[in-house]
Amino acid sequence: MKTARAWQFCLRELPIMAGLRQRPHLKRPVWVIVMVSMVCIFLIAAYMYPLRSSAAAACNFFSSRDCTMYIDVPFAPSRELTDDEIYSQVVAKEILKTPSISSINPKIAFLFLTLSTLPFERLWDKFFQGHEDRFSVYVHASGEKPVHVSRYFVGRDIRSYKVIWGRISMVDAERRLLANALRDPDNQHFVLLSDSCVPLHNFDYVYHYLMFTNVSFIDCFVDPGPHGSGRYSEHMLPEVEIQYFRKGSQWFTLKRQHAILVMADSLYYTKFSLYCKPGMEHGKNCYADEHYLPTFFQMIDPGGIANWSVTHVDWSEGKWHPKSYRAQDVTYELLKKLASIDENFHVTSDDKKTVMLKPCMWNGQRRPCYLFARKFYPEASDKLMHLFSNYTLV
Ligand SMILES: *[C@@H]1O[C@H](CO)[C@@H](O)[C@H](O)[C@H]1NC(C)=O
Ligand SMILES: *[C@@H]1O[C@H](CO)[C@@H](O)[C@H](O)[C@H]1NC(C)=O
Ligand SMILES: *[C@@H]1O[C@H](CO)[C@@H](O)[C@H](O)[C@H]1NC(C)=O
Repeated sequence: MKTARAWQFCLRELPIMAGLRQRPHLKRPVWVIVMVSMVCIFLIAAYMYPLRSSAAAACNFFSSRDCTMYIDVPFAPSRELTDDEIYSQVVAKEILKTPSISSINPKIAFLFLTLSTLPFERLWDKFFQGHEDRFSVYVHASGEKPVHVSRYFVGRDIRSYKVIWGRISMVDAERRLLANALRDPDNQHFVLLSDSCVPLHNFDYVYHYLMFTNVSFIDCFVDPGPHGSGRYSEHMLPEVEIQYFRKGSQWFTLKRQHAILVMADSLYYTKFSLYCKPGMEHGKNCYADEHYLPTFFQMIDPGGIANWSVTHVDWSEGKWHPKSYRAQDVTYELLKKLASIDENFHVTSDDKKTVMLKPCMWNGQRRPCYLFARKFYPEASDKLMHLFSNYTLV
């Protein structure tokens, strides 16, 4: 029987493990025995009560009280969870049920991922003007040190490292930006932007859209084709099963709780850093920035994400890169059109090219999907500046 095996394991391992530790740390054996015993009790509990999760099992084992508060595990496969998964779930659940610290002065953190100087800094300056106490800016420049022309960007460069497109270093830069921004407790929502992104609405609109909702806007969908599940590698097992593997654009917004979850994760991050990378090393060509966060949140808090990105991008030309707007393309009509789209669009990469159109629901109401758009050539800057006050009038 399983329980008996767990006991045998514990009885056998207890003195051995205590003994191992005894040599270097002579004063510690009591602690070690207590710790190992607790782990054993937990293991036995998990064996005896193979419910939906080990947390629920432990709850049933230790008390006869109502255990329903432990049952709502977001991700609960029928197989037995690994230790690392249990640690990860415990932490995730605590973070998710902790109300975010209420700040008197809640701010949105704008995280800019760039190579060097930002071509649209003057446009962003216009966007931020007059809202000084409601935002903060962080810049990760992976190349040359940027030259800043806006006072909102001066002194906002964080320590940055090289980013290679499609590599885990991209995710590392995102995490670095989040970590720096989380140090300010006033930052309640976090927006990742690139140097080719521009705002589609005015600051008040964006602030209200992000601050008064309880979801993170993370793009997330199932793509059964070669650019979706085709990139999945079985090396990610047992923790990442193919049915949880998701795809999505990297341009996220995260609520504070979710940003902390990203900081807390090492299990899934490690899996993606090892087994989701470009090149055919593991038989797959994979890009962590398009799969790690969608898959992670699909497993940890699927109901807490919107499943679309608030940054618009036009893939309709079907090329390797999305449509980039030149100065001549930038018109009042174009910007108004992008700003009023209220259906999000996904297409699979298999032969069927299935198109999925879904209404964008914001707190239960249909709303425009996009707050930002990419990709714009630097030459479009003057035109955008000229049109900004006009097209962002609500
Ligand atoms: C977010 O709020 C909506 C109502 O505004 C509610 O239906 C939904 O369950 C909430 N979601 C989460 C993850 O709290
Ligand atoms: C996002 O998709 C997941 C399923 O993949 C679903 O459970 C969740 O409710 C969706 N989120 C919203 C806000 O609809
Ligand atoms: C904005 O500009 C467009 C075209 O340049 C013009 O047709 C429209 O009337 C302007 N709207 C406002 C509110 O000024």
